[in-house]
Amino acid sequence: MTGRKVGIIGAGAVGATAAYSLSMMGTCHEIVLFDIVEGVAKGKAIDIGQSIHYSPIGTIVTAAETPADVKDCDIVVITAGVPRKGNMTREDLLMINAKIMKDVVNDIQKYSPNAVIICVSNPLDVMTYVIHKLTGWESNRIIGMAGALDGARMAYQIYQKLGYGAGQTGSLVMGDHGRNMIPLPQQVQVDSVSVAELLTSEEMEEIIERTKNGGAEIVKYLGTSGYYAPGRAIAHMVEAILNDSKTVVSSSAMLQGEYGYSDITVGVPVVLGSKGVEKILEIELNHEVEEKFRISVDSIRENINILKANKFFDKGKQ
Ligand code: APR
Repeated sequence: MTGRKVGIIGAGAVGATAAYSLSMMGTCHEIVLFDIVEGVAKGKAIDIGQSIHYSPIGTIVTAAETPADVKDCDIVVITAGVPRKGNMTREDLLMINAKIMKDVVNDIQKYSPNAVIICVSNPLDVMTYVIHKLTGWESNRIIGMAGALDGARMAYQIYQKLGYGAGQTGSLVMGDHGRNMIPLPQQVQVDSVSVAELLTSEEMEEIIERTKNGGAEIVKYLGTSGYYAPGRAIAHMVEAILNDSKTVVSSSAMLQGEYGYSDITVGVPVVLGSKGVEKILEIELNHEVEEKFRISVDSIRENINILKANKFFDKGKQ
């Protein structure tokens, strides 16, 4: 991987914040933003470009006029999507966002055929599955960004309770990036000290609930979802891939027998390196977590089945 070029499809709040975070860290040589709404990518690219003056390493930030300009990227991050509005059903939203994935993925296959794709669009695990099926690429090259964010939210909650250990806390969240996510504070450590030694089980339960509610809490205050933590979480994954750092990050990955499941994308701890998902770590789950994981997988399958029932995956349809 020599170019260190990152494409970001969807220059909305999350996409642009990821670009800003990457350029402030000096992670890549070049970032190219694309958005379907005219002017959005251009305006954000200029604004971020002007911030580069104070960043440690210069990054070229450009806007793509057409999808063809997002070419030869090492990584393409997909944040394109529409939020649920008005009387849209869950099924409507699924079909709309899956159709967006179809357009976007078609272009990535044409113009950045060797890229690793990081999917951020929601519903995250389902959209990640859609990208696997549409591309047919090796499964290591398609990764869903979920655990990186949910884990950061859990670490934040642990820090809020303890008042120490910021940046030293593990961040294991498994399962789907939705109501059935499985934060596992009891499995993580603050430096080398198990959180189970530091917090009561009631406090742990509270952390689990607050982590699950992490996104909704921000919506309550802002009227829109968060973008700083998602943007930084994307940048963390991009850094791990471009630097080939073999970093463990919980991510939505295609299971092929791991944890007893196949043909499903769900959050599990993985090793990220230049090839994308270089290894899926299979950790021992107790019965309770195993059952939660099953519920989580089922909820993702339910949505995939809606797409199947609407013939989304049939060749020539949609
Ligand atoms: N190609 C390119 N960009 C697109 C397309 C498309 N086909 N369809 C929509 N977009 C763009 C929109 O114009 C918008 O600028 O995607 C952007 C999405 O940005 P926001 O609406 O600001 O949403 P954001 O908060 O950034 O979230 C992006 O991440 O967390 C998920 O659920 C969230 O799916 C959403 C995504």
